[in-house]
Amino acid sequence: MSMSKSFSTLSKRGNNLATTPARIDSEIFIEASQNLYCPIENPNGSFPLNIAENHLMASKIKDRITLITKNNAIPDWVLNYTHLLGNPDVRMEIATFMEAYLCGCPISHDTIGLSAGASAVIEASSFVLANTGDVVVIPAPSYPMYTNDLGLKSDVTRYDLQTHYDIKEINSGSLISIASLEQTWDELKAQGKRFKILLITSPDNPTGYRYNETELKELAHWCIEHEVHMIVNEIYALSLIETSVVTSKNNEDVTFSSFAKLMNELKSDYLHLWYAFSKDFAMSGLRIGVVHSLNEAFIKGFENVNVPHLVSNLTQWVVGELLKDNTFLKPYIAENKLRLTHSYKLVIEHLEKINVPYYSSKGSFFVWADFSQYLEEKNDEGEKQLWLDIYKNTGVLLTPGIGFMHQKKGCFRIVFTAVPFEHLEVSMHRMTTYFSNRNQLKSD
Ligand SMILES: Cc1ncc(COP(=O)(O)O)c(C=O)c1O
Repeated sequence: MSMSKSFSTLSKRGNNLATTPARIDSEIFIEASQNLYCPIENPNGSFPLNIAENHLMASKIKDRITLITKNNAIPDWVLNYTHLLGNPDVRMEIATFMEAYLCGCPISHDTIGLSAGASAVIEASSFVLANTGDVVVIPAPSYPMYTNDLGLKSDVTRYDLQTHYDIKEINSGSLISIASLEQTWDELKAQGKRFKILLITSPDNPTGYRYNETELKELAHWCIEHEVHMIVNEIYALSLIETSVVTSKNNEDVTFSSFAKLMNELKSDYLHLWYAFSKDFAMSGLRIGVVHSLNEAFIKGFENVNVPHLVSNLTQWVVGELLKDNTFLKPYIAENKLRLTHSYKLVIEHLEKINVPYYSSKGSFFVWADFSQYLEEKNDEGEKQLWLDIYKNTGVLLTPGIGFMHQKKGCFRIVFTAVPFEHLEVSMHRMTTYFSNRNQLKSD
C-alpha cells in the first residue's frame, strides 16, 4: 500500500504523527553518525554534537555493568511483574542514593516512582497533573522535546516565557523573575487559559544555568500561593562544571541545591522533582527515570498511569546494584565533573577565539552559543541555512536553535560530551577555521 493511501487508515492523531518528525535533526543525525570521525580510518568524518549523551563516562559504566552481571545471579523477581512504581527494594536503593548524592535530605521510597526514562516521567506527570488545554510555563530557551513529552498525550500546551534576548543579559542575572511570572499569569488569564505548571530545568538545557536556593524558594512560594505545580527537572544534577577552573567571564560559582530540600521543608502538594540516570550515569539507553513528590494523590495517579512506562526489571536490578557501591559512586561522580569541565573549557576557549558569545555554563552537557552575527537572514530560514552550512563545511552537527523556542535567531547548542575529548579538539578546530575564513572573506 502506498504511504499516502495508508494515511487514511490512521486517526487524525496518527496522521499528524506520521507526518511530523519528533526532532528536526533526526535524519541528518543518522547521516552524521554513519560517517563518524576517526583519526586513522575516517579523518574527514563528522561530529554529531547535537544529541545529549555522555560519551565521556560510558566505558566506566559499561565495565561496572559487566562486573555486576558477571558476579551476581539474577534474582527471581526480575522475571516477574513488580510494583507499578518500580521494585520497592530498588526504589529504596534509589532513595538512599538520592539522599546521599543528590538531595541532601531524607527521601522515602514511597515518594518516588520509576518510569522508562525522564521522557516517560514527563509524559505521565503532565497526564496526572494537568487537564486538556492547561498551560505549562517554561523559561526559554528550553529542551525541544518537552513539547511532545508534555503535550502529545495530555494535550497540554507549552508556553515559552522569553526571559532575555541577548545571552549577556542572563550571564549577569536570573533566568526568571517573579515579575515575569505575574505578567504571564495575567496574560494567560486574559486568554481564558490556566497556568497549571511551572517547569524549571536545573542545571538547565540548553543554557547550563543553575538555580540557587533563594531563586527556587521564591519561585516555589509564588507557585504555592497561585496553586500552580512547580516541577524541577534535575536530570543534570551531577553533571556540574567546576567553575573555579574555567577562566571565562561571569563564571561565579553557584552551589547546586536540590529542589528536594525545599520540598522537604515546605511539604507542599504543589512541588515535584524529576531525575533520570540517562545523563549523569551515561545510560540513556537503559531508560530509567524518577519522579519524586510528597503529593500522595499524585504518586497514586502516577502509579496507575505508569503501566505502559515501566522500566524493565533487569534494568532496575542492575541499576540498584550499581547504586549500592559507594566506592564506585564517589570517584565516578568526581571524574564525571572533571571530564565535563575539561571538555567544556575546550569549547569556550575556541568560541572566545572567534568572538562568539556563549552562556557560562554551571552544569549540563551544553554550551549555548550565539552565532547570530553570521546569519544572512535573521529568521528561522536563515538560522537553518547557517546550521546546515556549518555541518556541510565542517562535519560538525550542532543542535539547531529552532526547537528551543527562543526569540533570538542564530543561537545553537553544542553538546561537548557527545565525542571523546581528542575528537572534540578536532571539531572545534574545524569550526574556528570555518568562522575565521568567513570573517576573512567579509573583511576582504
Ligand atoms: C532536560 C531533559 N529532560 C529529559 C530528557 C530525556 O531524558 P531520557 O532519555 O531519560 O528520557 C532530556 C534528554 O536530553 C533532557 O535534556
